[in-house]
Amino acid sequence: MSWMPGAFGAGRHGKPRKADPRKRKRPTGKLLKADVCSAFFYVSKSMNDLDQLVQDAHADFAGAVTPADLENAKARYLGKAGRLTELLKALGALSPEQKKARGASINAAKQQVEAALNARRQALADAELEAQLKAEALDVTLPGRSRDVGGLHPVSRTMERIEQIFGSMGFDVADGPEIETDWMSFTALNNPENHPARSMQDTFYVDMKDGEGRWLNLRPHTSPMQVRYARAHAKKYAGMNPMPEIRVIAPGRTYRVDSDATHSPMFHQCEGLWLGENVSFKDLKVIFTDFFRNFFETDDLDLRFRPSFFPFTEPSAEVDIAFGHGPLKGKWLEVAGSGQVHPNVVRNFGLDPERYIGFAFGMGPDRLAMLRYGVNDLRLFFEGDLRFLSQFK
Ligand code: PHE
Repeated sequence: MSWMPGAFGAGRHGKPRKADPRKRKRPTGKLLKADVCSAFFYVSKSMNDLDQLVQDAHADFAGAVTPADLENAKARYLGKAGRLTELLKALGALSPEQKKARGASINAAKQQVEAALNARRQALADAELEAQLKAEALDVTLPGRSRDVGGLHPVSRTMERIEQIFGSMGFDVADGPEIETDWMSFTALNNPENHPARSMQDTFYVDMKDGEGRWLNLRPHTSPMQVRYARAHAKKYAGMNPMPEIRVIAPGRTYRVDSDATHSPMFHQCEGLWLGENVSFKDLKVIFTDFFRNFFETDDLDLRFRPSFFPFTEPSAEVDIAFGHGPLKGKWLEVAGSGQVHPNVVRNFGLDPERYIGFAFGMGPDRLAMLRYGVNDLRLFFEGDLRFLSQFK
């Protein structure tokens, strides 16, 4: 008979054989003794098979460690060619009563398999979530990382302050190269080659030459910027009579072979130039007095001009200031160099020294920052120590 156990022989691991519809004989409806025996045998055996199948599914699902594993395991039971699917397909060959009983037990087994599948699915999803939460866990007991508010470097603050005060007096701000030609740093400033005055500035040279075959240098002062600016200005207003006055400051980094508590090989300068038809030393004195009183926020401050020498100015003067109060009270402090621009320099600007006259000055923002903030070692500015720098905010 087609529904004899052999015909349904879905072994534990074997594939259920499909009944061949052409060979299948329809049951007659008349039950023979042999049929009853077979059916009984079949039913009890199939119950065991189904239990086994459910047990296998449990084990299989439990062995799946990823959702993909689980879906593969599922396919082995519920997929198109899965064990349960094959069993259901085979129902067709049974008599209506057998179909009912067998169908019910297969369905019960199927429900158990599905329940086991869902339970495992849930367990895997829970585990995944758990792992994710663990990985992304925040330890709220750790002290927070605070973000400090930064501040400008005291020298930058000083430079900005200088620019702002001179800006309010109508001075332009010029910026330019830190590697300069020999002519710009020296010759144009009335400091000819081999002149002893050149040794006033212990200069760093760069292993490279300019168009005239002379070594390039790290500018020892920002005066070359005044030359560059004045030349461009003279060219720009060549047709104008008279040319608008030149009023410019040149702040920036400068370099000299020099290093101690008050000198650094890299330091800052801010030089200035005021050139016109009627500019005099008196103007320089007014400008400087105004500037320093503004800068230090006090009128209780005196200035003095002390004769000096610079190749690019004639006459030349050092500028000293003295506070009328505070820890430095009454002490003359050198803060700038200055002088009336030398005719040779005016000529090198491309202008007529008989017509244009003016003054130039140069001061050290580092020194001004030291005075303003009460710092006694220049090196502190350039060591980058946050314990020092974070005091300036
Ligand atoms: N360039 C001079 C220096 O670096 C400073 C200065 C500028 C002096 C302008 C006079 C006039 O020492």
